[in-house]
Amino acid sequence: MGQVRWGVLGTGWIAERFTAELLTMGEDAQVVAVGSRTERAAGAFAGRFGIERAYGDWAALAADDAVDVVYVATPHSTHRVAAGMCLEAGRAVLCEKAFTLNAREAAELIALAERHDRFLMEAMWMYCHPLIRRLTALVRGGAIGDVRTVHADFGLAGPFAQGHRLRDPAQGGGALLDLGVYPVSFAQLLLGEPSAVAASATLSEESIDLQTGMLLSWESGAHAVLHCSIEGGTPVSASVTGTKGRLDLPDGFFFPDRLVLHRPGHEPEVFTGEGPRDSLRHEAAEVMRCLRAGETQSPMVPWESTLAVMRTLDAVRERIGVRYPGEG
Ligand SMILES: NC(=O)c1ccc[n+]([C@@H]2O[C@H](COP(=O)([O-])OP(=O)(O)OC[C@H]3O[C@@H](n4cnc5c(N)ncnc54)[C@H](OP(=O)(O)O)[C@@H]3O)[C@@H](O)[C@H]2O)c1
Repeated sequence: MGQVRWGVLGTGWIAERFTAELLTMGEDAQVVAVGSRTERAAGAFAGRFGIERAYGDWAALAADDAVDVVYVATPHSTHRVAAGMCLEAGRAVLCEKAFTLNAREAAELIALAERHDRFLMEAMWMYCHPLIRRLTALVRGGAIGDVRTVHADFGLAGPFAQGHRLRDPAQGGGALLDLGVYPVSFAQLLLGEPSAVAASATLSEESIDLQTGMLLSWESGAHAVLHCSIEGGTPVSASVTGTKGRLDLPDGFFFPDRLVLHRPGHEPEVFTGEGPRDSLRHEAAEVMRCLRAGETQSPMVPWESTLAVMRTLDAVRERIGVRYPGEG
């Protein structure tokens, strides 16, 4: 496989950003089709980006044999159906975070990818970011000793009006699945799945979480103190503290432009990245590398890590009393 032919499912905010990014990647990446709930939205999106084929339903995009991989960019509540339809039709899938509403749906999608021998990856772009990979290598190489504490937060100022995707239980609304998934994924990248989960939240009148505080614990004695909010713009920073030092991601921790290593007796050491910090191209490049190599999952975003994050999000929701329609 030389060129990778992408289909885009959904025509919203992130679909626009990802498509624009693919179009900067040269001959390697082609965007050949878009699918939407309506022909009008599909046609308008195709017109904006010069995409050949526009489908007013998802099944037609899934059935397009000239599409190698579909990027699913619809609300979380629809990921199970949308990605499942694509896998069953033989497409590879890159599916936005939160990967699904819950761990059960995530396991179902992974089972489908296995059954149809198709590539499937959660669009956890943070895991593909070069500076996050650098941080992980520093931690694994012992730069800060044994990890004892992870701090991370992601809060957006809003306000998000009633009816907005983030306030709508039917679309998997709330801070946790949209924003909290980043601090949780960050902590689990470094420490794996926690052995205990505690959480507290402020719920909206629609019973979605407006802000959630989480305390994850590991058998090793390590802790992660995490927070997400759709009521206020928090620093969006992270730090990883170990027995011999600390690594700080002071700003926009999941798309960092620098990380700072603090060690007793040493000047702070600053690591910087190259190129645009918030680029989605790293995850796109990883998908295309996997497809060319015939891999069904990415070592950067393996299925088990996606599942483990979904199990933690389930546990947090159980503690704070948030259930989505259809979950029983
Ligand atoms: N990786 C990132 O940085 C990032 C950033 C933002 C969001 N996301 C994730 O991407 C997904 C989409 O987020 P977004 O901000 O792009 O949302 P958005 O702007 O609301 O767009 C979602 C699109 O999904 C389609 N859709 C399908 N079923 C829908 C339904 N029942 N209700 C509403 N829209 C539906 C719509 O396209 P049609 O009208 O064409 O059907 C809509 O434009 C979410 O899972 C979110 O967590 C990721």
